[in-house]
Amino acid sequence: MRDNASALFRATFGVAPRAAASAPGRVNLIGEHTDYNGGPVLPVACAVRSVVAVGPGEPGVLEMVSTRDGHVTRIDYREGRPSGWGAYLAGVMHELVALGAAPLEGGARVAVTSDVPVAAGLASSAALTVAAAKALSLLAGVGLRPRQLAGVAFRAEHDHVGVRCGIMDQMIAALARPRQALLLECASLAVRHIPIGGCLLLVDTGVRRELAAGAFNERRAECDAAVARLKNELPELQWLASWPAAWLPRLKRALPEPLRSRALHVVGETARARFGAQLLARGHLKRFGELLYESHESCRRLYDCSAPELDTIVAAARRAGALGARLTGAGWGGAVLVLLGQGDGGRGKGEAKVVREIRDAFAAAYGREPAISTVHPSGGARREAVR
Ligand code: GLA
Repeated sequence: MRDNASALFRATFGVAPRAAASAPGRVNLIGEHTDYNGGPVLPVACAVRSVVAVGPGEPGVLEMVSTRDGHVTRIDYREGRPSGWGAYLAGVMHELVALGAAPLEGGARVAVTSDVPVAAGLASSAALTVAAAKALSLLAGVGLRPRQLAGVAFRAEHDHVGVRCGIMDQMIAALARPRQALLLECASLAVRHIPIGGCLLLVDTGVRRELAAGAFNERRAECDAAVARLKNELPELQWLASWPAAWLPRLKRALPEPLRSRALHVVGETARARFGAQLLARGHLKRFGELLYESHESCRRLYDCSAPELDTIVAAARRAGALGARLTGAGWGGAVLVLLGQGDGGRGKGEAKVVREIRDAFAAAYGREPAISTVHPSGGARREAVR
């Protein structure tokens, strides 16, 4: 389905596209709500992707079609802020113009196909913006480096659409390597690729987080407020994630609720993600899995970003003997990541038991089955053939 961006372009605009590119969705292994606090994250790209096919258009005009809405939307992206997914593409165009990497005269026709589910915690917007940045810059004859693509996509979403996201989703969509996780330190943007063992399952609750943009920005504001207060204790503090772990009693004294809980999550999650990356690199999957459970508990209790459906799945995975499980992405709905040992993967008995117990527990509580798939850690943004 997603490979048909070229065909959709032809069918819609009556000519062949000039360039196409794709970028993946992502699953974050650990380090949740740490990116915009200057901490580490450890995502993998998954096999679902967005594909964007592009061709020249009228100056200043974006003509866009996607299989999701099926009709052509036409916007002058220089005027005001468009609504819906056009806002993301308009943001990408603005940023490419600023970099000198936009198609001549700054207009384009765009066709999008995607199998990244929207609002499921898999970063569909970053898959779209990174793929669009790559396709449109190729149309302009400019080869942007992966970090430049991530920067364009990040500023499109953060500065133009107004979701105060961190940089994780765009960086993994641009820099991912097959079968590897990406340890990204979000304050320095230092990266390390880490081969991953074990088998990863994704269990989608089907709960879509319509309200998440609001809740997400609220959490960010709470983190900013916590930093402002903690500067009284440590004037040079820039990022919440940089608060020294040894000073937790001081943090607790300095902050009222809910800022205290939010900050405790960020500081704890920062330590867990760094330790987790070391464990993963050394193949210590069992201890890594325990950290995933701890991370979920911290998201639930301290950051208050879980949902009953997510908790049901994590509890069932633990009862069934999975090495680890946690909500992945912003939370409030979306999906749970489950880690199984190497021997449990494929058609192993361990996997079958975990899947069955999760299905049964979820069906008993909610009267329907969650979608369960295997995560295949994949590569980042790439050029696609134009057909
Ligand atoms: C969303 C944001 C990311 C990150 C996660 C939470 O996916 O886009 O930048 O903050 O939530 O870890």
